Amino acid sequence: MNTSLSSQEFQLFQRYIEEQCGIRILNEKAYLIESRLSKFLIQFGLDSFEELYWLLSQQSQKNLAEKIIDAMTTNETLWFREQTPWKIMEQKLLPEYIQALRQESCDKIRIWSAACASGQEPYSIAMCLDHYLVEHHIQDITLDHFEILATDISHTVLRMAKMGKYDNISMARGLSKEYRDRYFEQKGRIWTLDKHIKERVQFKQFNLQESFLFLGKFDLIFFRYVAIYFSDLFRTEVVHKITAALKDKGVLIWGNSEVFLNYQDDYEAENYDSANFYRLRSGDA
Ligand SMILES: C[S@@+](CC[C@H](N)C(=O)[O-])C[C@H]1O[C@@H](n2cnc3c(N)ncnc32)[C@H](O)[C@@H]1O
Repeated sequence: MNTSLSSQEFQLFQRYIEEQCGIRILNEKAYLIESRLSKFLIQFGLDSFEELYWLLSQQSQKNLAEKIIDAMTTNETLWFREQTPWKIMEQKLLPEYIQALRQESCDKIRIWSAACASGQEPYSIAMCLDHYLVEHHIQDITLDHFEILATDISHTVLRMAKMGKYDNISMARGLSKEYRDRYFEQKGRIWTLDKHIKERVQFKQFNLQESFLFLGKFDLIFFRYVAIYFSDLFRTEVVHKITAALKDKGVLIWGNSEVFLNYQDDYEAENYDSANFYRLRSGDA
C-alpha cells in the first residue's frame, strides 16, 4: 500500500474538496489530506489515494463522499468562544430585541449559527438569552420569542450537537462554573444540557454552498471561524448570500481574529470592546 500522497493525487483531492464544500487546502497543507484520509485506504483495502479518488467518483459512494468531507472539516469550537460576542449580545443587541418585541415591530428574533460544529456556539447563544431574561427579571418576553437555527456541513458533529451531551474535556473549555451548574446535569463523566435550552436550538445539516433562500431572514448571524477555510471566491459568494439573508439592520458577527474585507457598501462596522460587529445598512439609507 502506498499511503504517501503524490502531487497529482493532492491536486485531485484539493479540487474535489473545494468543489464539494468550498474548503481550500493550501499546497503547504497537503499533509492534511494524507493524515485525515489515509484511514480510508485501510478501511477499503486500497493501495493508493488515486484508487480512493476513483472509488469516490462512483455514483454509489455517497456515504464515502460524506465521510471524506467530514474528515476534511476542522471542527474546533468551545463554549462562549471569545468574550465580545456575548457582551455585544447582552449590552447592545438583546436590549434592542426586547424593545422591538415589546413594540411589536417583530414577533420573533431569528438567530443563525452558520457553522455550529458540535453545538457549543448555538447552545451558548441559547444560554446567553436565558441568562439575560432571568437576570433582568423579564417575564413578558420569553425564550419562545427567539428562534435559533444551527447548521453545519458535517454529519458527525451535528449528531454530537443534537445529543446535547458533553464530556469533562469539552465542558472545561470556556464554560464558567455558574453556567455549568445552572444548565447541565452531570452523570459520571458526561454532562447533559438542560432540556429547555436544548430544545431552543434547531439543528440542520447544511452546506453553505447551497441556496439560502428557504432559510428565511435573520436578525443575527454568527459566521465565525469557517470562512478562514474557504477560497477567496467562495468566501465572497457566501458573504453575498449572508447579506441577502439578513433582515434590515441585521447583524453579522465574525470571529475576532478574522478580517472582513470590503464590507463598507453593505455594512456599518460597530466597535465594541475592541471587536467589530457588522450591521446591515438600512435598505432606504
Ligand atoms: C472551526 S468550526 C467553527 C465552529 C464555531 N463557529 C466556532 O467559532 O466555534 C468550522 C465549522 O465549519 C464547518 N464547515 C466547513 N465548511 C462548511 C460548509 N461548506 N458548509 C457548512 N459548514 C461548513 C465545519 O464542519 C466545522 O464544524
